[in-house]
Amino acid sequence: MPESWEINADYVAVKALENGVTIIGLTRGKDTRFHHSEKLDKGEIMIAQFTEHTSAIKIRGKVELLTRYGIMRNDDLA
Ligand code: TRP
Repeated sequence: MPESWEINADYVAVKALENGVTIIGLTRGKDTRFHHSEKLDKGEIMIAQFTEHTSAIKIRGKVELLTRYGIMRNDDLA
């Protein structure tokens, strides 16, 4: 039986547009700490879900990001 966060929590899709992109997971709750990081190289895609442990992510490097809020890129090509 899945837990409620597993059913309700959003996913994000991240596609690296350059080598060495880092996706960092930040802890949920009163403290905000880094608890995990993933490196992606150009063209690699990661699909990740927010969980009871992760309430925010930080992305370093150029990516295309797909969320329920829309598609974003941070490489200045709009
Ligand atoms: N520990 C914080 C929390 O669960 C993490 C966090 C969520 C956060 N959203 C943020 C930190 C926005 C900085 C900015 O609320």
